[in-house]
Amino acid sequence: MTLAPLIELNDGYKIPQLGLGTWPLDDAQVADAVVEAVSCGYRHIDTAVKYGNETGVGNGIRASGVARGELFVTTKLDGGFQGSGKAAAGLDGSLERLGLDYVDLLLIHWPLPRRDEFVSTWKTFEELQASGKVRSIGVSNFKPSHLDRLFRETDVVPAVNQIQVNPAIPRPVAIAFNEQHGIVTESYSPLGASSDLLNAPVLASIGNKHGRTPGQVVLRWHVQQGLVAIPKTANPQRMRENLDVFGFELDQDDLRRLQTLDAGPDAGVDSDVQGH
Ligand SMILES: NC(=O)c1ccc[n+]([C@@H]2O[C@H](COP(=O)([O-])OP(=O)(O)OC[C@H]3O[C@@H](n4cnc5c(N)ncnc54)[C@H](OP(=O)(O)O)[C@@H]3O)[C@@H](O)[C@H]2O)c1
Repeated sequence: MTLAPLIELNDGYKIPQLGLGTWPLDDAQVADAVVEAVSCGYRHIDTAVKYGNETGVGNGIRASGVARGELFVTTKLDGGFQGSGKAAAGLDGSLERLGLDYVDLLLIHWPLPRRDEFVSTWKTFEELQASGKVRSIGVSNFKPSHLDRLFRETDVVPAVNQIQVNPAIPRPVAIAFNEQHGIVTESYSPLGASSDLLNAPVLASIGNKHGRTPGQVVLRWHVQQGLVAIPKTANPQRMRENLDVFGFELDQDDLRRLQTLDAGPDAGVDSDVQGH
């Protein structure tokens, strides 16, 4: 069985480099998906309050038969939990739905800069980390400007920034900024979500060269640059395929050809104006 390599976070905890995305699976679907994923080697599950499936994730974890300590569970608190102190009740609700006494990683789902509450929310996250109910704390959809404010006004540097990254939206500046500050970049929508990225002829061509599928080429592109990726699928065959990306290497020519998929600086979400 393949287990994804572990990447060390800035707080000493380790995150499996490949995890299972769970949006938009419902409680019943996600419970089955988690059991299947754990059986084929996934040890990292990504959920969020907003996905409405934390109960199912918890049920899947308990049904998987793998010890809690071997799994890495992430959840995220959305705008309803932003503001001084509100995240504490948010985390308690997540732990209750998950049926867990801690999560491995808690993320601020979106910065919502117009509300200007992410700094006070982060201070509550720092207290939650000290309480032991969460091991690592991080952010999602944060731009360098949002992170700069956390660096200036709070004490703990986020362990992770989960952002939209794939070969069409490669975000090299954001990735380099995160890395420079010791923050691990985690790619969401790593396969391009509902776009037609995986149908790009260049992916089939590179895949044929290595005996791999387009999805594997894309996920290899993530892990080879040190990113964590959380592809979503409930399909057992694709789960296995997506995890099996640690036994081949993209060469310089492949990487150069993948750059042609870049859709430009205006592609992807703009977290100054989107999010909830
Ligand atoms: N922090 C945030 O704001 C945020 C935003 C979006 C997503 N996320 C997280 O990131 C996770 C992944 O992102 P995502 O779901 O948007 O997109 P994604 O993982 O890039 O793509 C999922 C889509 O790809 C298909 N797929 C999966 N494996 C495949 C394969 N090997 N070959 C062909 N198609 C494949 C899936 O179809 P099937 O399911 O039919 O296999 C699904 O339609 C989410 O589930 C969620 O946990 C976070």
